[in-house]
Amino acid sequence: MSISIIGAGNVGMALGKAFTQRGEAVVFGVRDPAAYAAEVAKLGPRASVATNAEAIAASGVVILAIPYAAVAAVARSLADWGGRILVDATNPLAPDLSGLTVGTTTSGAEELAKLARGARVVKAFNTTGAENMADTSYANGTPFMPVCGNDAEARSSVIALAASIGFDAVDCGELVAARYLEPFAMTWILMAIKLGMGRRFAFARLQR
Ligand SMILES: NC(=O)c1ccc[n+]([C@@H]2O[C@H](COP(=O)([O-])OP(=O)(O)OC[C@H]3O[C@@H](n4cnc5c(N)ncnc54)[C@H](OP(=O)(O)O)[C@@H]3O)[C@@H](O)[C@H]2O)c1
Repeated sequence: MSISIIGAGNVGMALGKAFTQRGEAVVFGVRDPAAYAAEVAKLGPRASVATNAEAIAASGVVILAIPYAAVAAVARSLADWGGRILVDATNPLAPDLSGLTVGTTTSGAEELAKLARGARVVKAFNTTGAENMADTSYANGTPFMPVCGNDAEARSSVIALAASIGFDAVDCGELVAARYLEPFAMTWILMAIKLGMGRRFAFARLQR
């Protein structure tokens, strides 16, 4: 079964590269498929590009890798998502990365779930940089990937997907946890960009 990724920018391409290298078929959904044909072709024969509607129809798992401002329209584009797993990799970033536009009493993911009728929304792939999605290998640990969502089966599927590309994928329970995972993404952004530490690091989990 294929994985669809809406958006073929930094995150979309990084996840598409990782999944196709693992042998999965990936269908990108974009506004202008012709504009992305050459870039997607570089990922090899397992990757293809289509319209958003075609990509959503193609798979049971759809990853949103688009700007937060575009999320509501995509969520509403289907009257019924038919039980699809809708993975929210977005963050409701304020301009200039000054903070989040949604939070504490709700989250981008919970707002998405209100709009995407019949979708099983799972928050994942939002808490680290795209470079870590393309390549999870570090000599000194395994990048951490928290995952939350209200449907336990959907959550398990996404945990397995994240683990398949090398993340230490961790079950963080119900979708309400996105209220904590979206600000957690800001911690990575703060360190990487605002504090100038660069993008070549990831958070890892220690346990005893
Ligand atoms: N960059 C990171 O390291 C990172 C890490 C974690 C999470 N995120 C989050 O992931 C999301 C994507 O970030 P990004 O860095 O990948 O952004 P990006 O490089 O700007 O790419 C965004 C992609 O979304 C497409 N797009 C925009 N509106 C669309 C629509 N209505 N339907 C379909 N595609 C649409 C754009 O295509 P067009 O050419 O048509 O504009 C482009 O392919 C954001 O919400 C961001 O906060 C980013």
